[in-house]
Amino acid sequence: MKEIHNFTILERHTLGSQYFSLVLQHTDTMQPVSPGQFVEVLVEGEREVMLRRPISVHDADPAAGTLTLLIQIVGPGTRRLSRLGVGESLNLVYPLGHGFTTDLRPPTSALLVGGGAGIAPLLHLAKVLSAKGLHPTVLLGGRTADLIPVRDAFLPYAQVGIATDDGSLGHHGIVTTHPDFAFPYDIIYTCGPTPMMKAVARSAAERGIRCEVSLENMMACGVGACLCCVTDTDHGHRCVCKEGPVFDISTMKKWYQC
Ligand SMILES: Cc1cc2nc3c(=O)[nH]c(=O)nc-3n(C[C@H](O)[C@H](O)[C@H](O)COP(=O)(O)OP(=O)(O)OC[C@H]3O[C@@H](n4cnc5c(N)ncnc54)[C@H](O)[C@@H]3O)c2cc1C
Ligand code: FES
Repeated sequence: MKEIHNFTILERHTLGSQYFSLVLQHTDTMQPVSPGQFVEVLVEGEREVMLRRPISVHDADPAAGTLTLLIQIVGPGTRRLSRLGVGESLNLVYPLGHGFTTDLRPPTSALLVGGGAGIAPLLHLAKVLSAKGLHPTVLLGGRTADLIPVRDAFLPYAQVGIATDDGSLGHHGIVTTHPDFAFPYDIIYTCGPTPMMKAVARSAAERGIRCEVSLENMMACGVGACLCCVTDTDHGHRCVCKEGPVFDISTMKKWYQC
């Protein structure tokens, strides 16, 4: 069930030149959050920013009542959030959207492909898959090493590969050219820049691999009321905030083929 709640910032970490993470503490009983679901964050104290900002859940620990967000500073809203400190509060609407499929069992082989801020929802996904006995492969891509904000956090749950466009860390090239991308996985999950996700989806479709993409369309209300986030699917227009952000590519041929 969705709720609007003030969380307290428990930890704040700077991660490279563009990213930071916030560990947020719920003051009561936290709602369960599935991998791929997101929150709408209220940005206070910034006149330019009227609408809440959608941010994926990077990690969730319902028992401890904590949620972690991984945020890239790209504009006034995220810059304002980056200035918040430990002890300050953050108002969230959560959990929102339809997340990734996780009802899998070993020996299912899963690949998680993240680029840029799209890495964010994949940690929670890797943890949940690992708890089900899977050991997924995670491939993280970025333009340079500085733009791969997290890697070690994945290591207890997954085999991790890195690809950078400039070769400053891991494989030199885009993430879809990483040698581990080519294995015949049972399922591929991806989140990141649209051209990357389309390339992943096309490759998965050609190889007959099930694939889910998490779209990051512009959003306003976040709950299916304003229609500003719609995407064209093979079954017509769908609200990314409510019917997504995660879609199975079997319904997205129009999207990934163009
Ligand atoms: C479901 C979803 C999950 C997301 N998860 C994360 C995440 O975990 N970490 C992260 O760093 N970013 C995430 N984003 C992107 C994040 O919402 C935007 O970067 C943020 O809203 C930018 O706000 P701003 O005021 O800093 O920048 P602005 O100046 O408003 O915008 C900078 C750029 O961000 C994009 N953007 C702006 N507003 C929105 C909006 N309301 N919805 C979507 N895109 C927008 C636009 O492409 C714009 O060019 C997610 C987006 C969606 C839709
Ligand atoms: S953001 Fe309003 S309908 Fe999706």
